[in-house]
This record gives sequence, C-alpha cells and structure tokens, in this order.
Amino acid sequence: MKYYLAPMEGITTYNFRRAYHKYYGGVEKYFTPFIGNRKLNSRERNDILPEHNEGMNVVPQILANRPEDFLSIADVAASYGYPTVNLNLGCPSGTVTARKRGAGFLSVPEELERFLDEIFDKGRLRISVKTRIGVEDMEEWGRLLELFGRYPMEELIIHPRLLREGYGGRVHIETFEAAVGCLRIPLCYNGDIISLDGDGTEYGTMGWLISRLPDVDTVMVGRGILQRPGFLTGDHSADTLRAFHDEILEGYIQIMSGDTNTLYKMKELWTFMIQSFENSERYLKKIRKAGSVSEYRIAVDSIFRECNV
Ligand SMILES: Cc1cc2nc3c(=O)[nH]c(=O)nc-3n(C[C@H](O)[C@H](O)[C@H](O)COP(=O)(O)O)c2cc1C
Repeated sequence: MKYYLAPMEGITTYNFRRAYHKYYGGVEKYFTPFIGNRKLNSRERNDILPEHNEGMNVVPQILANRPEDFLSIADVAASYGYPTVNLNLGCPSGTVTARKRGAGFLSVPEELERFLDEIFDKGRLRISVKTRIGVEDMEEWGRLLELFGRYPMEELIIHPRLLREGYGGRVHIETFEAAVGCLRIPLCYNGDIISLDGDGTEYGTMGWLISRLPDVDTVMVGRGILQRPGFLTGDHSADTLRAFHDEILEGYIQIMSGDTNTLYKMKELWTFMIQSFENSERYLKKIRKAGSVSEYRIAVDSIFRECNV
C-alpha cells in the first residue's frame, strides 16, 4: 500500500512536512496546501522552495479556474524542478467555491472541460487531480468520470463526498468503485482513514477500506496523521511525538514573526493532535489559553507529563 500526506491548508506547511518526514515518514508523496495566487505570495513560494523540501517527494497543489493562472503557477513549480502539479477540485470552503474554484468548479462542467483541455494541452508538467464526486447530487459523478477519463492525468485522487457534505457523514465508497470500473488512470482513495487495523468491520480502518475496495493500492491520509502522527509507522511513543512537536514549534518560532502567529499555528495543530492523548480535555484548554510561547511550553510540558499517549 502506498500512502500520501493530504494537503491541509495552514497545517501541512513545509515546516510540518519536514518534521513529519524526519520523525515518522512512511508516505510516498507530500501534497502542499493549495497555491492560489498567480504571483505566488511569500508563504506560497517558501512552501515549495526546493531547499525547504529536501529529501521529500513533494507535489505542489494549485487552486485555479483560469488556465493562465494554473499554467503560470505550474511554470514556477517547473522552474523549481517539480515534475508534477496537482489540481484542487475538492476544497469546500465558501470563499473558494463562491468563485467557482476548488469543489465549486465542479458546478460548471463545461467551463471545467475547457480549462482541462487547455491545461493538459499547454502544460509542461504532469498533472494529477484531487476531486470530490460532485456538488449537490450523486448523479453528477457519472459525467465527471466521463470527463476525467479523457485526460492523461498522472493520477486521480478521489474524496468520495459531495461539496454540500463538507466532511460530515460517511464517504460514498461505491463511487470510488465506479471509478475503478471505468477509468484507466491510477486512482488514489482519500477520506476518513485513521487506523491500520485490519479486521474489516470498523469504518475508517484500512481493514474496512480493503474489504470494500480490494484493488485499492494508494491512500491519501489527512486528519488521521494529524490526530496520531505515528499511525502509519506504528511509532506511538511519547518521546517521538514530543520531538516531532518541538521541531514544529521551533520551526515556527524561526519562520513566523511574533508569538501570536506561532501560537495560532500550534493551537490549530492541537485541535487534531489532542486525540493522541488520553483524558486530555482540560490540558487542551490550557494550551488554548496560552498567551505567549513560554505559557504555551508550560501547558505542553504538563500534557506530556501527565497524560498517556
Ligand atoms: C484544515 C484542513 C485544510 C485542508 N486544506 C486542503 C487543501 O489545501 N487542499 C486540498 O486539496 N484539500 C484540503 N483539505 C482536505 C484534505 O486534503 C482531505 O481531502 C480531507 O481532510 C479528507 O481526508 P482525511 O479524512 O484523511 O482527513 C483540507 C482539510 C482540512 C481538515
């Protein structure tokens, strides 16, 4: 089985990816959070600079609905030596979809078709796509499959939910099966996988996924890795988790200006990572309350000292 790290805006930054790669690893590809500015801002540029991504197989992700924007960002990626870029057709955020980008682009299939025609015709890099299965209605998937099947994509990563479902409810696993049946491009499954357990009954485990999709060989994981960073490698030790956390913290202290920005980043990560600890509710509150990096360090010391991982 091949595993990919999902792009998660604001969280899976190069600072996070480097620390993850150093302490855990076990993933074949790291997808960057989306780049949405034709002229990359400094955060976006820093995120894909080769010197910030050494030793990792990284795929820059692009959020665009105009071919010229996509191609211009892809050119920057090409100038840094990347062989592949990924198109985001999955983002459900209202500000993104209102402008018919991300999953919002799926609502205008004719425009999407013109866009895909042009980027596959003119693009110098290989292109992979990450998509949802539609906007409102399951019926949309058949048409999208037919459309995707026309392009020589490197791979298609499918998050089997509609835009309107956000991240709620169970995934529609049968829509992935439909893609296996009719597309010849490599496919990657994405959605809700949080454990490698194998008996096949429990939703969200690899056993469950394989019992439903026996042919799947590539899985992209997002929140599961944030919640339990060691779940792919089996390293659940507190020491590794602490070293991983500290590396991310020190990285942000270097990169960000001021405590506030660093704390914002770390607190966002903790909304997921808290799942690694037992009975940790009140410790999370203390972390959230920290107003300076020194208060934050005290709160983190106490969770590592007093809660089991
Ligand atoms: C905080 C957050 C930020 C995300 N940012 C992106 C993004 O930049 N690009 C993207 O394609 N998907 C993004 N996603 C979606 C994830 O890549 C992934 O598809 C989703 O979390 C489902 O996978 P999971 O159940 O393994 O987490 C984001 C998800 C979350 C929770």
